[in-house]
Amino acid sequence: MQVKGRDKRVHMPSKPRMIVTRGLPGALMERIATQFDAWVNPEDRTLSAEELQRAVAAHRPEVMLVMAMDRIDAACIAALPDAVQVLATLSVGHDHIDLAAARDRGIAVIHTPDILSDAVSEIAILLMLCAARRAQEGERMIYDRTWAGWSPTQLLGRDVTGARLGVLGMGRIGRTIARRAAAAFDMPVHYHNRSRLAPEIEAGAQYHPTAEGLLAESDFLVLAAPSTPATRGFLNAERLALLPPGAIVVNIARGDLVDDDALIAALRSGHVAAAGLDVFNGEPEIHPGYRDLPNVFLQPHQGSSTIGTRVRMGQMLLESVATHLAGGTLPNRLV
Ligand code: DGY
Repeated sequence: MQVKGRDKRVHMPSKPRMIVTRGLPGALMERIATQFDAWVNPEDRTLSAEELQRAVAAHRPEVMLVMAMDRIDAACIAALPDAVQVLATLSVGHDHIDLAAARDRGIAVIHTPDILSDAVSEIAILLMLCAARRAQEGERMIYDRTWAGWSPTQLLGRDVTGARLGVLGMGRIGRTIARRAAAAFDMPVHYHNRSRLAPEIEAGAQYHPTAEGLLAESDFLVLAAPSTPATRGFLNAERLALLPPGAIVVNIARGDLVDDDALIAALRSGHVAAAGLDVFNGEPEIHPGYRDLPNVFLQPHQGSSTIGTRVRMGQMLLESVATHLAGGTLPNRLV
C-alpha cells in the first residue's frame, strides 16, 4: 500500500511505550506486558476525550491501541505528542479515526480486516433468525411467565428459507453473510456495492447498480457497508418504502446508516415486519422507540465478540505493530 506523508519510524532502544484504551482478554494482556511498556485503562469504560489526552500526555506512547468507541478525530490527533507512531484499532471499522489527520501527522493507522468476518456473519444470521422468528416476544413469554402453552397461531413468524437476501456492502463481511445464508437457508442473494464484484467472488449473487434496485428485491435487508459520508443516513423513510411489505432489516455495520425515526415508524406500521440490530446511533444510548417495540431483536454491538476472534484481532494488531516498528510494510495499514 502506498503511504503518503512523513514516516516517523525511529529506532527504539527499549520496549516501545503503548497505551491501551480498554482492558483486553488475558492472552493479549500478557503479550502486551511482555512486549511493551504499556499503560492500560484500568476502568472498563471508554475514556473521555480529555482522559485520553491526559493518558497520552502522561505516557507519551509510540503506539496507541484504541477501540471503535474511541473518537480519534482531527482535534485528538492534532493534540498527540510527536512520539506517537502507530494508531492500532481493535476493529475493522475505522470511521472513528480521522485518517487524513493521521496521515498528515505521519501516524500509521492499522485495523483488523478479514479475521472478524466469520464472527460478524454469525451475529448477522442470529439477528436474521431472531427477528424473523420473533425471538424477543418468545423469550418474554418465558421470562414473564405468560406462556399458556403451545398454540397453532402462536407467534407466527416469517420463513427465512428461500427468502431473498439483500446485502448492502459486499465486502468481506457482506460476502461471508451471503455465503452462509445461501448455503444454510437457500436464500437467493442480491447486493449493491460501489462496483460489481468479479463473477468468481460474486458467486451467483445478483448485482444491483442502484441501492434502490436492491431494496425492491430484499425480503431480508442486511446492512454491511462501512459508515462513510455516502452511507450515513442511508436507510431513510424514502428507501424503507421501497422494501417489499413485511421485509426484515438487519444492521451489523454502524448505527448511523439508519434513520431511527424512519425505521421505528416502519416497524410500527408493519411495513417492516421486524428488525435485528447490533449497532446503534449514539451507542450505548439507543433510540427509546426501539425499547417499546416487540418486533425487534437487539444486541449490544456484539459482532466480533467471541474470545477466539477478539484474541486473533489483538494478535494481528500486535504483530502488525512489531512489523511496522521494524520497518516492514503491512496489508492492514490504512494510512
Ligand atoms: C468493528 O470491528 O468495526 C466492530 O464494529 C468493533 O468491534
